[in-house]
This record gives sequence, structure tokens and C-alpha cells, in this order.
Amino acid sequence: MKPSKVRLDKLLGSLGYCARKEVPALLREGIVTHVQGLSLKSDTKVSQDEILFEGEPLDPPQGMVILMHKPAGLVCSHDDGEGKLVYDLLPERWRLRDPKISTVGRLDKETSGLLLLTDDGALLHRLTSPKHKVPKVYEATLDRPLKGDEGGIFASGTLILNGEKSPCLPAKLEIIDDTHVTLEITEGRYHQVRRMFAAVGNHVTALHRSSFGNLTLGDLAPGEYRLIDAESLT
Ligand code: URA
Repeated sequence: MKPSKVRLDKLLGSLGYCARKEVPALLREGIVTHVQGLSLKSDTKVSQDEILFEGEPLDPPQGMVILMHKPAGLVCSHDDGEGKLVYDLLPERWRLRDPKISTVGRLDKETSGLLLLTDDGALLHRLTSPKHKVPKVYEATLDRPLKGDEGGIFASGTLILNGEKSPCLPAKLEIIDDTHVTLEITEGRYHQVRRMFAAVGNHVTALHRSSFGNLTLGDLAPGEYRLIDAESLT
């Protein structure tokens, strides 16, 4: 399928490169050019792959999926008032894109690990919908040794978190040693893993998400990210 064509100023504005009214100056200065040297005006209809900005191809069009290794200490929010944001790790112009890039669900400030971000609203909805039940694996460090009944309680589908009415769906606990576990859950309730351990009288001191569906971090270091194909998501 051929990429769709839109006005040059609209394209550059939506990808966060500049305000639409700045395009004539960027054309005059040779900052924005056509890959085949064709002449351009602000209202020329172009596709994303025809245009260069400072000699470089443009960022991908809408439909971007970013796999990030979130470090602990960053917040999954668009609100600068909440501290350093996960969006601060991305190129500045990506924060100006329209549609906006948002996190697929959230990780708590002190949780590290695999975080997806996308500007595709339908994909975001699908991946966060309770119907979809994407398995997510968390590595947790616990304050107190396990008692032994936690695996059965989490697997039972009867655990009700403080302040909630419906029980958590069955979750799989794997024990590494008496204070280190992995937990696979298919929901995304608020602070779910920490609250599940609180419900069995324990406390999570460190939490890391190692997988989301079929995706893992591979060799991405904390703070790094890469673009992935939406098709690679289950
Ligand atoms: N569960 C939590 O408690 N925190 C997270 O960040 C994710 C799942």
C-alpha cells in the first residue's frame, strides 16, 4: 500500500519537527528538502518517505511502537510536575507529535522494566483492555520470606485486593528463593503486584517487568528504547 499524502506543513507539524508556519523558512534555508530534489511548497502534498529534514529521513509516521527499558525513578505521566518523565528519554520533537505518544498502561515510579509506548490509539486500547489478557511477567524482591501459601492464593482467582470488589484473575508465581519471585499476571490493576503481596502480608521492595506478551527487553539497558513493529505484538 502506498503511504498517504498530506500537505508538507501538516506532515512536519504532526511529526513535531516545527510549527506549520515555520515551513516556508525551512524550505528557503534548505533544511527541508525532497529526496529527489523536487521543488516543494508548504502546501505540496507529500508522503513521509519523500522528505528529508537536515538531510535525514523523517521519523516514522503514525503507528509507532516503542519498546523502552524504563529505569526506576521515572514517571509514566505527561505531567511535568510529577518529576522526571519516561517521555524525557525520547527525542524532544516526539513529545510534540500529534497524535500523542502515550504509555501502554503504566509502571509505578519505582518499578523498572519493559514499557511500551505508542501513538496508535486502537493498539493502546487493545493492549490495555481487560478482555485482551496480555500476560506480563514481573520479578519481585520481597521484604519478608515467603510463607508457602502465596502461589496457591494467587493461582486461585479468589484474591480480593484492598478496596476492590472483584477478585484478581489467576496469576502464576514462580519461586526463585524465599525473597525473590516472578509473578505472571494478565490484568493491569493499579499497583497490582505490590497490592497482591500486601494482601498476603508481605511487601515488595523492588519490582521489574521482564516481559509483556511475547516481548522481552533483550539487551536494552535501562533508559534505552527501540522501535518495534506493531505486528510483533501478540
Ligand atoms: N504492579 C505494580 O505494583 N506496579 C507496577 O508498576 C506494575 C504492576
